[in-house]
Amino acid sequence: MKRRDFINWVGLGLIASSLPVAIAACSSQTTPPSGDWQAVGTAAELDKTGQLLAKNSPAGPVLVIGTSKAENLTAVDPTCTHAGCTVAWKAEAKKFACPCHGSEFGVDGKVQKGPATNPLKTYAAKIEGNSVVVKPT
Ligand code: FES
Repeated sequence: MKRRDFINWVGLGLIASSLPVAIAACSSQTTPPSGDWQAVGTAAELDKTGQLLAKNSPAGPVLVIGTSKAENLTAVDPTCTHAGCTVAWKAEAKKFACPCHGSEFGVDGKVQKGPATNPLKTYAAKIEGNSVVVKPT
């Protein structure tokens, strides 16, 4: 075997032996499947104001409405479907309102008033231990 062939074989061997490590490192940094429950905050945070806004949660932006005592929590992606502003929860009117162009959405995320035409993305939400967890629906 010539010297150049030997060096090529050694190089290929190094690449081949390090490939599984590189793949494992990459796969451990990917986000979990979208159907998994994801913690977005604590029950204590939710109880302070009756809402929990987690803009950078593992599940993506989430606005959870309710308290740790509630049987059902409401959770949506607060990103307005019109042009991307962040909607706010209006407890007295029981709806989400967008400050940018006035769109309104019901607790189910459906459009009540435009200009938005598409609903907010919704999540199933619950308390699990001391955490608020959500799962895309
Ligand atoms: Fe919400 Fe335009 S961005 S109504």
